[in-house]
Amino acid sequence: MKFLRYPGGKSKLLSYLVNFLPTKKDIKGTYIEPFVGGGSVFFHINPETALISDLNSELIELYKGIKLYPHKVWEIFESFPSGKTAYYEIRDKQMDGKPLYYKAARILYLNRTCFKGMWRHNSNGVFNVGYGGEERRWVITHQNILELSKTLRKANIHNSDFEEIILSASKNDFIFLDPPYKPGEKDLMELHYRNGKFLFDEQVRLSETLKSLPKSKNIRWAMTNSSHKDILKLYQDFKIRKIPFGTSDKPGIQTKDSKEVLITNY
Ligand SMILES: C[S@@+](CC[C@H](N)C(=O)[O-])C[C@H]1O[C@@H](n2cnc3c(N)ncnc32)[C@H](O)[C@@H]1O
Repeated sequence: MKFLRYPGGKSKLLSYLVNFLPTKKDIKGTYIEPFVGGGSVFFHINPETALISDLNSELIELYKGIKLYPHKVWEIFESFPSGKTAYYEIRDKQMDGKPLYYKAARILYLNRTCFKGMWRHNSNGVFNVGYGGEERRWVITHQNILELSKTLRKANIHNSDFEEIILSASKNDFIFLDPPYKPGEKDLMELHYRNGKFLFDEQVRLSETLKSLPKSKNIRWAMTNSSHKDILKLYQDFKIRKIPFGTSDKPGIQTKDSKEVLITNY
């Protein structure tokens, strides 16, 4: 079951990535994911202890809601009516003062019925993706929400910038990083995510943060990123593997020349 439809989601690359990632048993410390997004790697590994974070505050409310109130989230998700008119009503509802489980159910509903699982906001921070249809809504079940909640209960969930999260790592932790990027390119220019652009200076800040981790702490990390030469240059002292397949420039089309790499410090 794919939990969320999420831009840049790694579910299609999972079968390749897991060959190079530690298993739950191999992680002696905490599993840390600073750009968790749809969380496909996190949910797959299902770690014993975890710290997950993302700047997308609605996404983080969704995770916290499911962690604490799985039944209530399901009950409200199920009660939302179907169809285009209902979609726009629920999308445009005022959320101030609503309980966490209500906000979580709304985000889950929007994610599963909006156009292509996009996550876009207007300049006032209001979700403004159009209606996409119902066909993906009931792919998720009450049982799925309970299982997600079980995994999330082993995680601390934050809404912080990546630097703070990476620097909080301690001895023997493992960090998986999937920053926003467009395969083959150095900058992400579109306002595709809640908090906008991820330009090259952010990539530089990310590489410097990783390089500042003390060797004595034995922290392992793995990252997916664009194969743009300027990004590869930032990681020339690390192990870089070209991902042998992926999504091409045309959405939904698979290619053997993915322009994505997996970088590890082990
Ligand atoms: C490529 S997505 C992660 C996709 C995820 N691995 C999956 O499988 O769905 C990148 C994420 O980084 C988040 N993000 C962008 N800038 C950030 C920052 N400065 N600190 C933390 N998260 C950030 C975005 O909100 C987005 O969810």
